[in-house]
Amino acid sequence: MRTTGFVAAALAGPGAVLGQLNQLAKDAGLMYFGTAFSPSDVNDAAYYKIESDVRNFGQITPDNAQKWDATEPSRGRFSYGAADSIIARATANKQIMRCHTLVWYSQLPGWGKSLPSPEYSARSGVLFSGTGLLTRRALVTSGSWTKETMTSVMESHISNVMTHFKGKCYAWDVVNEALEDNGTYRQNPFLKALGDSYFAMAFKKAAATDPGTKLYYNDYNLEYFPVKADGAVRIAKLVQAAGVPIHGIGLQAHMSVGRTPTRENLTWTLNKYTALGLDVAYTELDVRIKTMPSNATTLQAQAKEYEWIVGSCLDVPRCVGVTVWGFGDAHSWIPSTFPGAGDSNLFDKQSRPKPAYSSVSALLASASGKRPPWGSTPATTLATTVASATAAPAPTAAAA
Ligand code: XIL
Repeated sequence: MRTTGFVAAALAGPGAVLGQLNQLAKDAGLMYFGTAFSPSDVNDAAYYKIESDVRNFGQITPDNAQKWDATEPSRGRFSYGAADSIIARATANKQIMRCHTLVWYSQLPGWGKSLPSPEYSARSGVLFSGTGLLTRRALVTSGSWTKETMTSVMESHISNVMTHFKGKCYAWDVVNEALEDNGTYRQNPFLKALGDSYFAMAFKKAAATDPGTKLYYNDYNLEYFPVKADGAVRIAKLVQAAGVPIHGIGLQAHMSVGRTPTRENLTWTLNKYTALGLDVAYTELDVRIKTMPSNATTLQAQAKEYEWIVGSCLDVPRCVGVTVWGFGDAHSWIPSTFPGAGDSNLFDKQSRPKPAYSSVSALLASASGKRPPWGSTPATTLATTVASATAAPAPTAAAA
């Protein structure tokens, strides 16, 4: 039955479950269990064999191929080859797409000026490395963006990119990481030129371009920084108040062992978002280990924390699914971005399942049939409309 070559011995221990995550997630009432995809994944045969099997991963997010620097490397010149080939593979594998991302301060093209990388946010401890970084400042310091030119640049980007991928994306992360950890708006070039009106403008253009896709606000630390969570609520309400559709909040869930909130706390937070009539999804899950090398104790703690996160999604009827930001420790963005940390994924460097894989699959298996199949109830119907996104808030779960 199993074709992915998982090693049963690696899941030693009573109660260990062998199962395929997407299949188990669907049986438990989620829409999908997914992963980020990088074009280099195909060079690792064992890894790609797991990744390309829809029973393991029913949803794919391109890790970099749809970002602004990849899709519009110079103004008005669009390039989609890398993302197209990812989508072609996913489609052949019967995997759906979450598309990522349209309006983000990072991985913007330089458009004239480049500054040294990486960019480091001292307050959040989040380090972003990668290509084309620091163009946020390049754009800001260029001083040439007016309300009109930024409107035109942003709307043109959204409409060109979304038109190209129209009909292929289950969801789009329309705006990414627009908040500081203290809940204030990040000083990005969009805010600077347009003020907070850029949120509704971006979602409006997105909805007009591809009315069939779910439109998300996506960010990190929305899971456990209450003021930042309030910031996401504020953004969603701004968009809704403008009469513009927003369908979901994406929680990146780049977690760190020892800092992950409990399942109950996560569920409480997710309910804050769904009370606005929105879906929620975990969009970039990994749980890094800060003290390397990892050991049996830290791997067990990690397994428990993965279980809390996936469990909280099961607890919230409008939690659509869980996407991990890669699933093998050899393929992680963490070591280069958070120096000293690592082993953040469900599988080890040789693509063998870790305790976290075992705990997540056991949890999903135990939840089989406890939620109705995704899409079978009004709250989870795929045809969520603007009307439902702006409906009167549903009752929230009682605060802890
Ligand atoms: C990361 C990629 O995985 C890296 O390859 C790249 O160097 C930097 O970006 N939040 C996001 C993702 O929304 O797009 C980021 O992806 C990780 C943090």
